[in-house]
Amino acid sequence: MNVVMIGSGYVGLVSGACFAEFGANVICVDKDEAKINELLACRIPIYEPGLDDLVRRNVESGRLTFSIELENTVANADLVFIAVGTPTRRGDGHADLKYVYTAAEEVAGYLQGYTVIVDKSTVPVGTAREVCRIISKTNPSADFDVASNPEFLREGSAIGDFMRPDRVVLGVESKRAEQKLRELYRPLNLIEAPLHITNLESAELIKYASNAFLATKISFINEMSQLCEKVGADVHSVSKGMGLDGRIGKKFLHAGPGYGGSCFPKDTLALIRIAQEHGVSSRIIESVVEVNASQKARMVSKIRDALGGSEADKTIAILGLTFKPETDDMRDSPSLAILPALVDKGATLKAHDPEGVEEAKKILPEAVQYMGSIDEVVKDVDAVVLMTEWNQYRGLDLDKVKSMMKGNVFVDLRNVYEKDLMESHGFEYTCVGR
Ligand code: UGA
Repeated sequence: MNVVMIGSGYVGLVSGACFAEFGANVICVDKDEAKINELLACRIPIYEPGLDDLVRRNVESGRLTFSIELENTVANADLVFIAVGTPTRRGDGHADLKYVYTAAEEVAGYLQGYTVIVDKSTVPVGTAREVCRIISKTNPSADFDVASNPEFLREGSAIGDFMRPDRVVLGVESKRAEQKLRELYRPLNLIEAPLHITNLESAELIKYASNAFLATKISFINEMSQLCEKVGADVHSVSKGMGLDGRIGKKFLHAGPGYGGSCFPKDTLALIRIAQEHGVSSRIIESVVEVNASQKARMVSKIRDALGGSEADKTIAILGLTFKPETDDMRDSPSLAILPALVDKGATLKAHDPEGVEEAKKILPEAVQYMGSIDEVVKDVDAVVLMTEWNQYRGLDLDKVKSMMKGNVFVDLRNVYEKDLMESHGFEYTCVGR
């Protein structure tokens, strides 16, 4: 089975390497020649646990390669995946589809023999039909079908998610296309991963609806966390008690500084726009977005309160900058909202992150100082703010941290620690919803 993956970003690279691991011959194509040259040398441009080994193994076996060239690769392909970026279009919340449509047009010219073109990028409902229209128009004699196969990978655990998915969603409307995709995913039969076969529009909507629902769970528990603080309840216990009900489920009910990343913020906005375009209200998702913004703002007040009412002239150590652990991704990280607000009010910020510093330097205020170790970042600070729950921060040497600090304020935005423990080590401890 010959697979071409157009777009060697996060989804394209992980999916391409995993399909190669399944036994397909995969060529990942990208217009960025420098990136392709790095990949040919097995240098991976993103941080994702296990990805470098997976790529190297499959490159060595000859099943995975990289190219900037589309013509010959597409001509020999059984399946061509479109996994290019769909950033939020500036100003209006729409997903920008120009890369998807350009890829469709380019592919159309090179098709030879029956080929399935598969949308893997997260795209608004109706995109697969438009891709179909573009290909037919560009190459009226092409023998092809279009399918939608949305991805449900989480950054930091993407390979495990790909290899052991809860489900694979396939929007297909011909038996030929369905057979090709079933063949590609056959290795998952062994673990009985469900293949959910549906039409193009449903597959596209499943992706947005799933992300919006998970974001809803997070905003729901974040709203509850505020109430917990007022009434003396403990949000951990509330989540646990709710999650034990199988109908609710325990996942995605961790209160924190708000969701971030490249998916939930973008996809919730895009879904609101899609609904608007079809004259349908999306009041729940609009509230989810609003609650998320206010949760980030609430974290700034929390830090201010913990510092006695003002962050001016205080030095604060920030532990973690990325939107979650095990990634170097800073996109829409809560730190991008919280750190500038603290700097504006006159705080001096020192920050540490195991993987995110290079990205952070490009987008956080220049005044933020970056430290190479936990010891350096906590030295002489008034307060420590735990922003991202990296493993390195879960087992801090609390006595050492406390002795190196000037003050004793510890603000735990991920509820990693217990209040009693922190107080027994001499900290003034604040967390979320407890
Ligand atoms: C998310 C989805 O989980 C994937 O299924 C989906 O494929 C992906 O988006 C995508 O559309 O490509 P990801 O953004 O990598 O994956 O990260 P998540 O683990 O879902 O976390 C998203 C954000 O929610 C993070 O900021 C995280 O800290 C936050 N979160 C998550 C919470 O605040 N509480 C929770 O209980 C769970």
